[in-house]
Amino acid sequence: MSVFISFENTMKKNNLQHRTRYIAFVAASVDGRISLGSKALPHWTSREDWEFFQDSLSRIDAVVVGRNTYELAAKRLRKRNTFVLSSRPKTLTRRGTVTFVNPANVDLPKLLERHRSVAVLGGGAVYRFMLERKLLDEIFVTIEPLIFGRGKEMFVGGTRTVRVSLLSVKRLNRTGTLLLHYQINHQQP
Ligand SMILES: NC(=O)c1ccc[n+]([C@@H]2O[C@H](COP(=O)([O-])OP(=O)(O)OC[C@H]3O[C@@H](n4cnc5c(N)ncnc54)[C@H](OP(=O)(O)O)[C@@H]3O)[C@@H](O)[C@H]2O)c1
Repeated sequence: MSVFISFENTMKKNNLQHRTRYIAFVAASVDGRISLGSKALPHWTSREDWEFFQDSLSRIDAVVVGRNTYELAAKRLRKRNTFVLSSRPKTLTRRGTVTFVNPANVDLPKLLERHRSVAVLGGGAVYRFMLERKLLDEIFVTIEPLIFGRGKEMFVGGTRTVRVSLLSVKRLNRTGTLLLHYQINHQQP
């Protein structure tokens, strides 16, 4: 798919060596909220976004999620190489293809280095943590045509300011769902 080709081209153009690519996928309201409550997965996203998301995940080697999000989507995530961030295990606990990891005591980039592509699937605490640790190379943000005026922030608790470069923008449907694809420039304030 074109978004993945564009990343490979960027890598070639910048003469970058292979390393793990971290890609966040976020669905948001126009006012940047990702959820109306922490105990529910978003039911307000469009069919077109769901199709894009599933297609993208089929090309990804592993996923990283927070414990709250894992608990909401465990059935689907159990089929994948899933890394669940949690402060509960001392270091690592494995259950089939799912690894519960405490990043305070484990070198997360090292743990994930054998995977070429890692999808960062949220929620808000995990998007923030991965951005702050410079473990995000790209972000896909699907903006659904809704204003919530409340709900969970994309980066819970806030982050430093990070500059991003727009790689592509696509309108996904007639109701006005937009898919934005950015590269994250950690070096530039
Ligand atoms: N719109 C979207 O694209 C999207 C995507 C995903 C999720 N969501 C929504 O987001 C909400 C969940 O987000 P959330 O912010 O409440 O929770 P979350 O990020 O899914 O999970 C938070 C939990 O993950 C663990 N965690 C996160 N960062 C950690 C770190 N650096 N070290 C150790 N543990 C860490 C902690 O678990 P412990 O308590 O075990 O320590 C923390 O309580 C849900 O409503 C979900 O539907 C929306």
